[in-house]
Parts: sequence; C-alpha cells; structure tokens
Amino acid sequence: MARRAFIVVIPWYAAILMGAPTFTKDVASILEKNCQVCHRPGEAGPFSMLTYEQTRPWAAAIRQAVKTRKMPPWFADARYGKFSNATALTESEIRTIVAWVEAGQVDQSRLGYVPGGPRQI
Ligand code: HEC
Repeated sequence: MARRAFIVVIPWYAAILMGAPTFTKDVASILEKNCQVCHRPGEAGPFSMLTYEQTRPWAAAIRQAVKTRKMPPWFADARYGKFSNATALTESEIRTIVAWVEAGQVDQSRLGYVPGGPRQI
C-alpha cells in the first residue's frame, strides 16, 4: 500500500516541479467558467465536474472534447437555448486543460479546494 502511494505521488511532484498545470491552480477556474453550468447535477451535461474526483475519470474525454472544440458547445440549439451564450475556450485555456491531462491530472491541494460554483449567466 505504502509502495503504491509512493509510485503515484512521485510523478505528481515531478509534474508540479516542472510547472505542469494543476487542477486547483489552473484547471478548476476554467471548468467553473465554461463547463460547470452544464456539467453539474441536474443540468444537461452527462457528468459532473464540480470536484477533482468527479472530473478526473473523464480526463481523456475532456482532452478530446476541448481539442476538437466539441465542448463547450457553441450553438443556438433550442434544447440548450438558455446556454447559448456559453463562451468558447481560448487557445490558452485549451492548452492548459490538454497539458493538465497529459501530465497525469495533477492536483496538489485537493483537500483544500472549495469550488466557487458555476459562472452566473
Ligand atoms: C451548454 C452546456 C454544456 C457546456 C457549457 C459544456 N458541456 Fe460538455 N456536454 C454537454 C452535453 C449536453 C453533453 C452530452 C451530449 C454530447 O456529448 O454532446 C456533454 C458531453 C461532454 C463530454 C462527454 C464526451 C463527449 O465528447 O461526448 C465531455 C468530455 C464534456 N462534455 C466536456 C466538457 C468540457 C470540458 C466543458 C467546458 C470546457 C463542457 N463540456 C461544457 C453540455 C455542455
């Protein structure tokens, strides 16, 4: 058990030292602003992104969705009419999310993170 924790923790510290984005510092605010309005319980998104634990299992799909600009959806579809002013991600936001996923979805301060909640629109 201790050995397994060791193996998981070392690459995390390495990634942090190398300046890889972390969930709390870099990724959470992007999700709050652009994703959580739909990706939280009771909304259109099929899974929740309110916490690190909820987001991490979807990392590979999230990487794909932002790279291809499939998410956040940008359309005037009547089904999601009230969300039609959801913003597209900037290039730098996409780079941050992709880098976070590719560096192993680091989160250095999981325990202290309190989500600020979705953007009010
Ligand atoms: C306007 C509401 C809305 C917003 C904003 C939104 N999503 Fe989604 N998301 C959905 C819906 C609805 C689905 C399921 C249908 C689909 O896949 O198109 C979905 C599905 C997904 C999936 C599942 C895989 C896939 O490609 O189908 C991922 C991953 C995802 N969203 C990531 C994100 C990320 C990351 C953001 C923020 C950058 C985001 N979403 C913002 C509504 C939203």
